[in-house]
Amino acid sequence: MAIIFDEIVDRNTPEDIKHKKIDGIDDLIPMWVADMDFKSPPEVIESLVEQAKRGVYGYPEADASYDNAVVDWFKRRHGWEVDPKTILKLPGVVLGVSLAVRALTNENDSVMIFEPLYGPIAKTIKGNKRNLVISDLVRRDSRYEIDFDDMENKIRENDVKMLILCNPHNPVGRVWTKEELIKIGKICLKNQIIIVSDEIHADFVYSGHKHIPIASLSDELKKITVTCTSATKSFNIAGIQAANIVIADDSMRRAVDKMALTTGAYGLNIMGLVATRAAYTYGDKWMDELRAYLEGNIELVKSRLAGTKLKVTDIEGTYLMWIDASKLFIEDPAKYFLENAHIKFSEGNFFSKKAGQFIRMNIACPRSVVNEALDKMLKLPAIR
Ligand SMILES: Cc1ncc(COP(=O)(O)O)c(C=O)c1O
Repeated sequence: MAIIFDEIVDRNTPEDIKHKKIDGIDDLIPMWVADMDFKSPPEVIESLVEQAKRGVYGYPEADASYDNAVVDWFKRRHGWEVDPKTILKLPGVVLGVSLAVRALTNENDSVMIFEPLYGPIAKTIKGNKRNLVISDLVRRDSRYEIDFDDMENKIRENDVKMLILCNPHNPVGRVWTKEELIKIGKICLKNQIIIVSDEIHADFVYSGHKHIPIASLSDELKKITVTCTSATKSFNIAGIQAANIVIADDSMRRAVDKMALTTGAYGLNIMGLVATRAAYTYGDKWMDELRAYLEGNIELVKSRLAGTKLKVTDIEGTYLMWIDASKLFIEDPAKYFLENAHIKFSEGNFFSKKAGQFIRMNIACPRSVVNEALDKMLKLPAIR
């Protein structure tokens, strides 16, 4: 049987960021921007084609059919009960994080993150004139952990008002366990810290691990949490920009909603609406097959890079592999692979100033492409 994810989809269009030409390289393998080289599920494509063919693109409103699709997905996939009234619809997750920062903290307040972390989050905090407090994740063997002592010390020293959590965590691939989330939650409740949980990668969790929305753990945690979700990563529709931000507490939700109106960045676009609804209604089987396929890609990378100087971080969630290249003793490993193997990885310092010796490899592409990239990497004497 043909595996749909093996298909090479032509992404060579002028609008495509990930596949754009870099440094004039013709045979570039793009493994950087976090989207996938797979077609979306057929029902998602059909929903967009149908909408496009209507020829009318007026202002949309999400009705009960949209809310039910979202809420049912959360319940089915993550065992999370969400009241549809508590969902704000926005054009993006980073926007949701930024609006929460602006609406729920004041200028100069301290906001904490765990680094390395997807770069735009820190930029959002600093850009909004908040004091960025970083608690570095600790790498033990090939797995990252939260340093809870450091977290608590920095909360006390800086009077932290908000924690931005990323679960599953981009780029270190952790899916935080129930025990870890309870510990994070206890610390935040004790110190009256609002949690903003970026759960955009929630659907990419591999065997032996389970995504737990922190807001689902207790009523107390639900009241202090803003959960940022989206179907865009899961179904490869990031270009249509849509997010669902769940805020159970009425006054917090009103404040974020008001901030959205104040900035003018509000609501869903029509394509985002129909695609999200179709994805969450029909996407289960496709998503399960995709996850199995990605798990195969991950195993392939791990086995083929075993015994080299590249140290692959354990990956429990996301399709992004965080690789330690420090044993290569090369100043800029991402540049090295671009120039010598024609592979574009994300640079480690996009995620932390201290991570310049890391590269992030996006394996959400056909297995033949992963193999081709590995062939090129393994030919380099420096990694042996
Ligand atoms: C953790 C995380 N949050 C947010 C985003 C971007 O979300 P959006 O495009 O909805 O702003 C990404 C994209 O890579 C991400 O990895």
